[in-house]
Amino acid sequence: MPLLGVNIDHVATVRQARQTDEPDPVWAAALCELGGADSIVVHLREDRRHIQERDVRLLKETVSTRLNLEMSIAPSIVALALKHKPDQATFVPEKRQELTTEGGLDVIRFFRSIRQAVSRLRGAHINVSLFVDPESPQIEKAKETGCLAVELHTGSYAQAKTAQQRTRQLQKLKKAIACGTALGLTVHAGHGLTYRNVGAVAQLGGLHELNIGHSVVSRAILVGLERAVREMKHLVCVEQR
Ligand code: PXP
Repeated sequence: MPLLGVNIDHVATVRQARQTDEPDPVWAAALCELGGADSIVVHLREDRRHIQERDVRLLKETVSTRLNLEMSIAPSIVALALKHKPDQATFVPEKRQELTTEGGLDVIRFFRSIRQAVSRLRGAHINVSLFVDPESPQIEKAKETGCLAVELHTGSYAQAKTAQQRTRQLQKLKKAIACGTALGLTVHAGHGLTYRNVGAVAQLGGLHELNIGHSVVSRAILVGLERAVREMKHLVCVEQR
């Protein structure tokens, strides 16, 4: 069975909505680890819409499992990764206007710049993974960059509307896992996975880790809300006495 990487970007999204200091993703990371997370994932975007450099710095000090930094290949971000040295870096494509990472890296088109970024991080002994669509040509080209792992984009599976479409996407993922494994790459997967759709992917076999963010943070808000209100109610009532 795969390991679980928990992406805590959206804890920082809530903090940034008020430009304040809560909820703190560093605290959230510790709670994720208590819950069994095998790694903590954060995406330091160029526009700093959620995770900040301060978070990466403190997470690097405090995470006791593994810190996986999602990042673009922009030189300024590569420099930050070299400064903070996460245990793993996952290169993803990044567009300013997107709500979330929209597709996998086009490793064939941007091969030279991706290979250069991979080589800089590998030189600092950072384990590098490339986020790619589940397509053999992209995975084969990823191997040529010198990365050690690929993360397969599960967005098309997550968005499949019918059972037939879902089966087709699962078959594509299975083929991609076989391709990556045959090339000697560690194969991860993620994006759009939820409590409803994760089971079939976890059961595919051959996946080392699943990275899940939005669904876990969404559920945390709902399962934690009643307790949060009870605690506030207590303070309000105590104050009235
Ligand atoms: N893996 C990668 C490479 C991602 O970019 C993201 C989103 O930040 C995830 C996994 C997690 O996706 P989600 O938030 O939909 O679970």
